[in-house]
Amino acid sequence: MIVTTKQLFEVAYGRFAIGAYNINNMEQALGLFRGSLEAQAPLIIQISRGARKYAGVTMIEAIIRACDAMFPEAIFAVHLDHGDEQTCYDCIESGFYSSVMIDASHLPFEENVAVTRRVVERAHAKGISVEAELGQLGGVEEDIKVDEKHARLTDPDEAAEFVQRTGCDSLAVAIGTSHGAYKFKGAQRVHIERLTEIQRRLPGFPLVMHGASSVPREEVERINAAGGALDPSARGVDEDDYARAYPLGVCKVNIDTDCRLVWTRVYREHFRNHPENFDFRKPGEVFMSEFAHFIARRSQKLGCAGRLEEVRAALRR
Ligand code: G3H
Ligand code: 13P
Ligand code: ZN
Repeated sequence: MIVTTKQLFEVAYGRFAIGAYNINNMEQALGLFRGSLEAQAPLIIQISRGARKYAGVTMIEAIIRACDAMFPEAIFAVHLDHGDEQTCYDCIESGFYSSVMIDASHLPFEENVAVTRRVVERAHAKGISVEAELGQLGGVEEDIKVDEKHARLTDPDEAAEFVQRTGCDSLAVAIGTSHGAYKFKGAQRVHIERLTEIQRRLPGFPLVMHGASSVPREEVERINAAGGALDPSARGVDEDDYARAYPLGVCKVNIDTDCRLVWTRVYREHFRNHPENFDFRKPGEVFMSEFAHFIARRSQKLGCAGRLEEVRAALRR
């Protein structure tokens, strides 16, 4: 059942976070639904502009529709990740997405407000939730690369003004994370104190943590042992920081890199161990099973495992 992110956040706020996973293909979609149901967790599927281009809009949407039919007990939102204004309108008009992200965080404050406000008006007219972003994460996303010196933590006062003026339903905040596998050096970590300040200015308002992959060391080591060449200093978010973040209003935790690491590890190890094989369904089956386990374990850390019936009951009220 497809619901809006706003509906999910009303149940989750302050008590747990919901994983938002980027998908690009059938194997990821099946693993994601299997793992979420194994954990009895609600979920958010997010589609980037890159995914829409890679699979084709018709195909990626058909994969999700098929999952909705195959897993009728699942409760999930379909969300556009890092949309520009035009892609937000395309998704709003399509009638399929229940949530869009307008990412105008690279623009000056007033322009970010104006663009976000326009998207909110069009989305709310159709009952679709809107996530916006303020502040700048480091790292690479789509075609935009933000280097460390241009990364900027979200200003709590600006955040309060931004939400009030735009009417957005949730806000992606820059709190020290970045996209990709190389987030932190040395003692760097998530700025929990900044999150506390933002929540103080926006009590009860849903926040979103982007760049939230944990980049498990074991995955990096296994990938490299199977012929990969990832920088072994790759570091992500401490998985225990999710439980520090959700009491502070983080309702949505965005994860893509960790999903890619599971894929890379499974396929590299499979073809290293079975050089004679050319039936891609064999590693595909291993991937779906490993990915489902990853999702189920991550749901525990996010606090959303075991919440499915609670969410269903809240939707009936
Ligand atoms: O933040 C971006 C997500 O990781 C999606 O990545 O644009 O390569 O699909 P992508
Ligand atoms: P990661 O690169 O940490 O997985 O972040 C994903 C993300 O924020 C997608 O919007
Ligand atoms: Zn992101």
